[in-house]
Amino acid sequence: MSKPNLLSGMQPSASSLHLGNYLGALTQWVKMQEDFNAYYVIVDLHAITVPQEPAQLRENTRRTAAQYIAAGIDPEKSALFVQSHVPAHAQLAWVLNCITGFGEASRMTQFKDKSQKGGADNSSVGLFTYPILQAADILLYQPKAVPVGEDQRQHLELTRDLATRFNSRFGQTFEIPEAHILRETAKIYDLQEPTAKMSKSAADPKGLVNLMDEPSVIAKKIKSAVTDTDGEIRFDRDAKPGVSNLIGIYSAITGESIDSFTASLQGQGYGALKTAVADAVVSALDPIRNRAQELLGDPAELDRLLASGAAKANEIAERTLSDVYDRLGF
Ligand code: ADP
Ligand code: NA
Repeated sequence: MSKPNLLSGMQPSASSLHLGNYLGALTQWVKMQEDFNAYYVIVDLHAITVPQEPAQLRENTRRTAAQYIAAGIDPEKSALFVQSHVPAHAQLAWVLNCITGFGEASRMTQFKDKSQKGGADNSSVGLFTYPILQAADILLYQPKAVPVGEDQRQHLELTRDLATRFNSRFGQTFEIPEAHILRETAKIYDLQEPTAKMSKSAADPKGLVNLMDEPSVIAKKIKSAVTDTDGEIRFDRDAKPGVSNLIGIYSAITGESIDSFTASLQGQGYGALKTAVADAVVSALDPIRNRAQELLGDPAELDRLLASGAAKANEIAERTLSDVYDRLGF
């Protein structure tokens, strides 16, 4: 029996992924490769909805691809590709633009959030219509499930509405995808501000562990993590966010339970906790960084892998687009 299709996208917006991306998303995507026929797309068309420096965008796209492969996305099992290498994304987006109401698009709350700084008048129309491009990204691959975080729920609803509308106007064409809500098992917090989510936009770079950080840098960041003064190694997110974050990171990265890890540290201090966490993070991330460096040092190999991903994606995307064009009377 063939596996169901699954589509997931990632921004080429940072030169390094961080520990939160790795534990919160990437490890789940690696696992999903076993149960799904997965399409993983690096969304460069989405990236240009806000200004980009071309050389930086190109570099970030390559670095993103290298890190996903290094972290376990297997280009043999899954299609890992760059969105602009598959023209059907932009082509289907245009068609969907033409069946989306202006009011309907205006109700997408993320546009309001993302355009806040410059205001709507200073935002691109691309930023306004990006949920429609996202619908195209999904519908081309006929997935039964789309892994989404809570923040993407509204966009998946739009995708389902547009697919249903197209099917009823023009005939059955698209699978209606279900939300596959990602488990929030591993939420990772900032090392310097442990009540805030670890994020690439961290105020203090020491709060953020990057996949591409050198082992000595990772160890230093973990050893200077904010803790508290009671000296007790105990998991309690509210009373002890810093210590709990360190314990949570250790547990997520090693698979050892929180109870067994804290028991093993009985009678020891925060120094021992930090050393254990630093060692675990370094030994998990070091092979990833090395493999990513190796791929970045061999651009021909990286290009070959991305081209094979685009070929797999084009095969199904072109088929869907051709059905769409046919039904439209093109
Ligand atoms: P950032 O918050 O750094 O901008 P993104 O929004 O690009 O990260 O997140 C990409 C993926 O990584 C999302 O699926 C998100 O759920 C996951 N992720 C990001 N930060 C964390 C975190 N601190 N803990 C767990 N998962 C995270
Ligand atoms: Na974010």
